[in-house]
Amino acid sequence: MTAKIINGVAVSAAMRTEIRQRVDVLKQRGVTPGLAVIMVGANPASAVYVRNKIRACAEVGIQSFRYDFPADASPQQVLDLIAELNARADTHGILVQLPLPPQFSISEVLQTISADKDVDGFHLYNVGGLVVGDTVFPPCTPYGVVKLLEHEGIEIEGKNVVVVGASNIVGKPMALMLMQRDATVCICHAKTRDLAQFTILADILVVAAGHPNLILPQMVKTGAVVIDVGINRLPNGKLVGDADFEGLLPKVSYITPVPGGVGPMTVTMLLANTVASAERAAGIAPKH
Ligand code: GUN
Repeated sequence: MTAKIINGVAVSAAMRTEIRQRVDVLKQRGVTPGLAVIMVGANPASAVYVRNKIRACAEVGIQSFRYDFPADASPQQVLDLIAELNARADTHGILVQLPLPPQFSISEVLQTISADKDVDGFHLYNVGGLVVGDTVFPPCTPYGVVKLLEHEGIEIEGKNVVVVGASNIVGKPMALMLMQRDATVCICHAKTRDLAQFTILADILVVAAGHPNLILPQMVKTGAVVIDVGINRLPNGKLVGDADFEGLLPKVSYITPVPGGVGPMTVTMLLANTVASAERAAGIAPKH
């Protein structure tokens, strides 16, 4: 068996064409979707992500508003800006790039964003919506993974899914979204003993742990689907995921590459959520 490599760049491009068409419809109605992106400090990885998000907005016709604060900014300044953006009609989405410097309470910042503009899906209201299967804004990375599986025609219902990583941004919402689609879900994390005894059971394995070569061929079932959410920079500068991509290729049925798999989808789903928010504001029923 040689795995099919899931091309996140191509799936993203097709989705972005559709998003651009939705933006055009909104503009014909006099609404330009707007996304505010707030960054505090100069974390190099965050700077790259923010730049990519702003560029992607421009590509589909979404207006972006970038706000940069120094690393020693007072939390109140940022909270005041969020309050102002919550009230602005030209801003349909508000994103605060994480992580934040230590003087910030991430929870306080995220709960200050209006749930109606929380295109990252991190507000407790949206997290609660995810738990009960009544989602408004699905978090972008797991949403992108679901879209990739759907695009490839990979059935989720009844499958054994193992999610490695239990973060609030990826692992936990990923597990909830797949459970909502009737998968049998197991979540593993840094304290899991003997990871392989769980991963070997997976029909679909989603890895978001941040450890290169964590998932080796002997840890996966023949024919499994491997979705690699990890992004790790090796000392030689190479970007790799959490799975041994080359080693897994002959054993699994589908695999996402790093880069070019899940990464582009995360940004695409941010665009989708921002357009959905603008559609809601314009009285158009958003599509998921
Ligand atoms: N930092 C890492 N991933 C994300 C994300 O999806 N959204 C935000 N706001 N910050 C992040």
